[in-house]
This record gives sequence, structure tokens and C-alpha cells, in this order.
Amino acid sequence: MAMQISPSILSADFARLADEAKKVEGVADWLHVDVMDYHFVPNLTLGLPVVQALLAATSIPIDCHLMIQDPDRWAVGYAEAGAGSVTIHVEATKAPVRTLRAIGAAGARRGIALNPGTAIEAYEDLLPEIDMILLMTVEPGFGGQKFLDMVMPKVRRTRAMIDKWDGEVWLQVDGGVSAETIERCAEAGADVFVAGNAVYGSADPAQAVRNLRARISR
Ligand code: DX5
Ligand code: ZN
Repeated sequence: MAMQISPSILSADFARLADEAKKVEGVADWLHVDVMDYHFVPNLTLGLPVVQALLAATSIPIDCHLMIQDPDRWAVGYAEAGAGSVTIHVEATKAPVRTLRAIGAAGARRGIALNPGTAIEAYEDLLPEIDMILLMTVEPGFGGQKFLDMVMPKVRRTRAMIDKWDGEVWLQVDGGVSAETIERCAEAGADVFVAGNAVYGSADPAQAVRNLRARISR
């Protein structure tokens, strides 16, 4: 299982996004972009025009995490723009199969995200329709929050579910992932790690990515 790091630009300088993306090019596997709409979460960040500008400005694949109402209407646009991965929240979608198939048809990896209080078991039947499951390890909306250990049993159950199904589905954790918490996520079965504050809150984001990777490559 290859371990991947996806730094979140939510903690980067929004006035210098291209420069911030370049800081982790060649070091990180993905650039995690948090799209928030003031409705699904109590914060507002950026949308498709900014993602398009980022895609033109960086060679690092974009990992779009849509924390928005009505992803069934908006998600495919991010895939068509060229995002490498597009993740929708199960709490927001009303037609996950149709939306995930549209994302896949547009050439992006298909992801579903679950909030800390949402159980995974109801979504087992979606395994053939997805490439990644994102488990939130904070309530979504803001960077720099405290890691929620209560999600770890769900990470284990999700890992067991994926292994039993035997397809190729990645398991991403997002929220409060740091040098202190990344190892317990990996032990529980995660293989893609989003880190905002731990990377962009550091004076040397590239080195922060290397440090995180070193902790889980042992
Ligand atoms: C929170 C976002 C996260 C956030 C993580 O709602 O989905 O991607 O940027 O930031 P940290 O790593 O600082 O918790
Ligand atoms: Zn995120």
C-alpha cells in the first residue's frame, strides 16, 4: 500500500496560491483543495474559477474536497476542469451513483467523504462506484482543529470493508493530521493523508511533507 500525502491549501496564503502550490511540487502526491460554500459548512473558501487557475499554475494533481450543498449539480465541473480527484460528501448528495459516474466519465478519481458522526456501513454498496473514501477526523469547515480520536474505530472498520471487497479503493483521513497523529491513522489503515496546518503552518512546507512521510514509511 503506497502512502500518499495531500497538503491542504486551506492553511496556505490565499493571496499567493500558485507559489504555495509550488512549494510542495515534486514532494507531495496531491494538492488538497477545500471547496466550501457557507451552507454545507459554516465557511466560504473558493470555487471552480480558482481551481481552474490553480490547475493552470501547478503540475501537482488537484484533490478537490467539495464541502458544498448540491454536489450533484456542481461536482462534475471540477472533474471536467481537470481535477485528478473529486470527492463529494454523502451527507449532501441525493444521487451519489449518478454523480460519481459523471465524475469518473469526466476522467477524475471518484471520492466519497463522511463526517465524523456518519457511519460507513450504509455506503458499502458504493464500493464499485468509488476510488477513495475520505473520513473526516474533524468536523469539516476549518483548518487547525483538534484531531478526533473517536473516528479511529471507523477507519479500522472501513479498512476491513475495503480489504474484504478486494477492489482498489484508497482511504483518506482529513483533519488534525500531524506528526503527532499520522502514525495512528496509518496503523488504523489509512493510506492518503491530508495535512493543512501541519504543512502550511510550517516554515518549510516541503520539509514538513517529508517529515510526515518519514513517520509512516517505517
Ligand atoms: C477541513 C478541511 C481540511 C483542512 C485540514 O474541513 O477539509 O482539509 O484543511 O486542515 P488541518 O490539517 O489543519 O486540520
Ligand atoms: Zn479537506
